[in-house]
Amino acid sequence: MPETSAGRLLTLPPTMPQHTPAGVVGNTPMLWIGEPFCAPRQGFWAKLEGHNPGGIKDRTAIYMVARATERGQLAPGAPIVESTSGTLGLGLALAGITFGHPVALVTDPGMEPLMARLLAAYGAVVHTVTEPHPTGGWQQARRDRVAELLAADPAAYCPDQYNNPDNVAAYAPLAHELIAQVGRIDTLVVAVGTGGHSAGVSRALRTFCPHLRVVGVDTIGSTIFGQPARPRIMRGLGSSIHPRNVDYGTFDEVHWVDPVQAVRTSRVLASSHYASGGWSVGAVATVARWLSRTRPATERIVAIFPDGPQRYFDTVFNDDFCAEKGLLDRPPLDVPDEIADTRERTVTRWTRCTRVVDPRALAPDAGAGAGSADVVGEARR
Ligand SMILES: Cc1ncc(COP(=O)(O)O)c(C=O)c1O
Repeated sequence: MPETSAGRLLTLPPTMPQHTPAGVVGNTPMLWIGEPFCAPRQGFWAKLEGHNPGGIKDRTAIYMVARATERGQLAPGAPIVESTSGTLGLGLALAGITFGHPVALVTDPGMEPLMARLLAAYGAVVHTVTEPHPTGGWQQARRDRVAELLAADPAAYCPDQYNNPDNVAAYAPLAHELIAQVGRIDTLVVAVGTGGHSAGVSRALRTFCPHLRVVGVDTIGSTIFGQPARPRIMRGLGSSIHPRNVDYGTFDEVHWVDPVQAVRTSRVLASSHYASGGWSVGAVATVARWLSRTRPATERIVAIFPDGPQRYFDTVFNDDFCAEKGLLDRPPLDVPDEIADTRERTVTRWTRCTRVVDPRALAPDAGAGAGSADVVGEARR
């Protein structure tokens, strides 16, 4: 099996014929996002991971399950159990069909009804927790339910996307696709949730482009980069814990994007380029567009769009939902606010910081303790 210089797998396992459902994962297209979304002679490349059967996480789901099987951690036919807000769930449903495992997914009431129905259609059993954990919020409540399901069946396996290094290694092929598609890359713009694709893609890309700048994109209210936990509307990116897969050293700067910004950007992108997505695509495209305006014109910028727009038609693209959450009340910003250090203040709208630190190394008064509340609801302003 071919490997990168870092010793990571380049291809899907060879037993995976290309004409199978899992065989069509990867080799997603690139789209140039220029005018009218960006100004004349400005723009960036978007990697359209929504062209995978489920989304970007198909790559890691197939990889984590294949590697667990190789290591003997997952027996033939044994159940797979995981906590997910959706995208990994789609990938695990695909892995379950491909490798013959029942799949149980634990989520919370914030999951879009469409996504829950999609997962059920693909054969997964969806468990929805009904109460947040008193201190650890919905994310901890989901993890507790996963622990219960694992305890009830000793054969069951949990990939643990937050801490499993396979969720980083799975993305080396994506980096190789980018190099084959655009050659040199100067700046990579990536959403951060578990940290898997930002860590895996940037690590493999730097073997080709050592000068690469990596710009991480998080949501306001997320603790990943040292902000205190606050209620979050945006799903996919962000977290209320500190996943071990986040590679803090890889980032040159971080942006926290607010939902007003993400909604407006996703909508403009959809109507101008017929390529859009939801919260994370809106956030990533917000930052990539700003970079295309402010970085030298010779710089080649690549943004990863983790999924497509379909699951967001009841939220990001629904006027009633957005009006109820106050997301249409103010115009989006053209430039981010700036802070010198994540501890400077709690950010409530699009903000940038070029000093990226691992919050686990910060003083306790940073207010970013693991397991703080993860409430899906309207952000307090
Ligand atoms: C739509 C979407 N965007 C972004 C992310 C963040 O990706 P990662 O977990 O690799 O950091 C996720 C993760 O689930 C996602 O579902």
